[in-house]
Amino acid sequence: MADERHQLTYRVRYALRHPDRIRPYLRRAWRDLKLRIRTRGDHVAYYREVMRHDVATNPRGAVGTPSRERWLALGQLQFDYLLEHGLQPHHDVLEIGCGNLRAGWRLIEHLEPRRYHGLDISPDVLLAANHTVAEHALQDKEPNLRLVEDLRLEHLPADRFDVVHAHSVFSHCPLDVILECFDHVGRILRADGFFDFTFNATAGEEHHVLHEDYYYRPDTLLDAARARGFEAVFLDDWEPRHKQSKIRLRHPAS
Ligand SMILES: C[S@@+](CC[C@H](N)C(=O)[O-])C[C@H]1O[C@@H](n2cnc3c(N)ncnc32)[C@H](O)[C@@H]1O
Repeated sequence: MADERHQLTYRVRYALRHPDRIRPYLRRAWRDLKLRIRTRGDHVAYYREVMRHDVATNPRGAVGTPSRERWLALGQLQFDYLLEHGLQPHHDVLEIGCGNLRAGWRLIEHLEPRRYHGLDISPDVLLAANHTVAEHALQDKEPNLRLVEDLRLEHLPADRFDVVHAHSVFSHCPLDVILECFDHVGRILRADGFFDFTFNATAGEEHHVLHEDYYYRPDTLLDAARARGFEAVFLDDWEPRHKQSKIRLRHPAS
């Protein structure tokens, strides 16, 4: 867990140990400043611009895995976990922040036609997602891919999804965006469905790096979900698999 990364002393020590990373960091810091000014504190508009730059450079890199090999492996990791946790072809799945379908193409392949819904705030990454559908010859599965500007999920029907999945999305979101999702996801989640999301966990002070990467204490997210009536659990069996942690929300058993 990241504890002191936000502290200046940690950053100076880190820079001295990794001088080759100073220039890329400064480039990102300059982009951060320009985009923050241009988007005037609107985080979704800001992150959409980040994705526009990153997709133009490398669509696979934009979701965090520049090589094809790592892109495939990270999708497999997500898919295998859902399978282990009971995902069936007749389930209806919503992927929040679906990106260019790193996991999505495997989900689409596994599910019956029209059972996969993906949404994202980035038009550029959704265009890349269209290419992924074509590349894997999944057109007949008719995945539903939507551009959104918030996480109110208002275009989706109530009680519709067995599984809602968000990998490496809340790691890029300030708390108000996550809470907006918590406020609305219960409406579209079936009574026995679950919502899994990953996040960057810290045992120390919550912080963000350049408005791109956000770190939360697990209890902040667990408490916020419970305050909204969900059963919320930290998924220990995910911990050894990935650097981000995972939480699952369910409706309370009646
Ligand atoms: C690191 S990528 C992960 C993509 C995908 N989940 C995967 O694992 O391949 C993060 C994705 O979340 C999207 N995203 C970021 N903030 C979002 C938000 N508030 N609502 C929906 N999508 C968001 C980004 O546009 C990007 O496609």
